[in-house]
Amino acid sequence: MADQVHHPFFARVYTHLSKLAEERGGSEHRRSLLAGTSGRVLEIGAGAGANFAHYPSTVGEVVAIEPEAHLRELARGAAAEAAVSVTVLEGHGSALAFDEGSFDAGVASLVLCTVPDQRLALAELFRVIRPGGTLHFYEHVRARSRGEARVQDLADATFWPRIAGGCHLGRDTSAAIAAAGFQIESCERFAFSPARYLPPAAHILGAARRP
Ligand SMILES: C[S@@+](CC[C@H](N)C(=O)[O-])C[C@H]1O[C@@H](n2cnc3c(N)ncnc32)[C@H](O)[C@@H]1O
Repeated sequence: MADQVHHPFFARVYTHLSKLAEERGGSEHRRSLLAGTSGRVLEIGAGAGANFAHYPSTVGEVVAIEPEAHLRELARGAAAEAAVSVTVLEGHGSALAFDEGSFDAGVASLVLCTVPDQRLALAELFRVIRPGGTLHFYEHVRARSRGEARVQDLADATFWPRIAGGCHLGRDTSAAIAAAGFQIESCERFAFSPARYLPPAAHILGAARRP
């Protein structure tokens, strides 16, 4: 089944990479991502819980889902250290086990590249975020240059998802967020390289509202 996630090797590599990225500006990105969150928040694909330390005190409760066992365990450790209440559950983005409109905000960071069906994951986020609630996103996305995008498509069709835990390089995530029915209110686009040995990739960071 596409949503069964078992990437023990990638999980360990990603945890290392994520720490390098924090020192190169990733922490700052996460702080900006979460600055406007409040109330009851759902975070999908929380990984090792790198966002948890950055939730502001306006947040009453975070429910974080993570399908990969090793990352989920790390996330539970990060939740125990967080200043806000964080509950980490097993789950995947394609079928969220929550009622319609039961969250004030949703958070997707570096995960809409990885979910097997981005359209479905966004439809689920749209369903569980209340009308007037917000989706906060931080994602690497499709290049604007046609040549680069073609290379991304080729990598996505061949080796990249296999070595990178299901990640795709060439997804046009802001277009998908808008197509899901969200109204994008802010979307900063910038190049970011998570480690010295990786080339910079286009990222987006912003917020969208469920009408
Ligand atoms: C690149 S990591 C990002 C982790 C974290 N969100 C962060 O910002 O560092 C991608 C995450 O998506 C998770 N994931 C994979 N398939 C998923 C799915 N179907 N639904 C939700 N999360 C998924 C992975 O287990 C992993 O934690």
